[in-house]
Amino acid sequence: MRKKVIAGNWKMNMDLRQSQKLVSEILNGLGKDSKAEVIVCPPFTSLSEVSSLLKGTQVKLGAQNMYYEESGAYTAEISAEMLKSVGCEYVILGHSERRVIFNESDELINKKIKTALAKGLKAIFCIGELLEQRENGQTMNVVSMQIEKGLEGISSEQMKNVIIAYEPVWAIGTGKTATPEQAQEVHSFIRELVAKKYSTSVAEGLIIQYGGSVKPDNAGELLSQKDIDGALVGGACLKADSFLGIIASA
Ligand code: PGA
Repeated sequence: MRKKVIAGNWKMNMDLRQSQKLVSEILNGLGKDSKAEVIVCPPFTSLSEVSSLLKGTQVKLGAQNMYYEESGAYTAEISAEMLKSVGCEYVILGHSERRVIFNESDELINKKIKTALAKGLKAIFCIGELLEQRENGQTMNVVSMQIEKGLEGISSEQMKNVIIAYEPVWAIGTGKTATPEQAQEVHSFIRELVAKKYSTSVAEGLIIQYGGSVKPDNAGELLSQKDIDGALVGGACLKADSFLGIIASA
């Protein structure tokens, strides 16, 4: 059985003091033996402090982005080694906000995934279609293309360190959630694609998270779907109560 993995993407929210408060509340509210794996992804400026607060707990630390080069003249960019040096185990790559607002291409995302894995980070690789693409019946094409390009050159062995997050863009931050059936349909399609590209065992071991307006009151039903192995949570992870509610329903 695959473990459920719940990750909170704080996005551009939470200054240092707010980060300390939020992570302390999450730790206080989390039972000692939470069955789900829990990951928090604060902004870069809070990573080091949150990392100290997470020491000795089961909660894992993730970053929201990184650059693929090792070091050098890349003003304002952050490398994989830098993330590791502050205790990150995960990094979110290819989020739709990076794709849409910051024009990140599949090729760039692929380079980032390669570097992250080579440096020993685990990648939460985000994919998902726009509203227009869904309405035009292109969802499965878009998702296949993103997987094909994003995972180019990634080996079966490396896939153990990849989580795929299916996030229909029309459901992110909009309050519109994909129905459990809509999400399950795409998740099972993704698992089949991965089985074809790699093997059944890689596909069966793969964690596929759903993201897009996940809240405590819809998490249970989404997470009970056969191929939904967790959630990537935006808005609802900014309050400890609602994030803990989602974790509890996993
Ligand atoms: P949301 O964001 O939960 O606010 O829709 C999800 C995400 O962008 O990962």
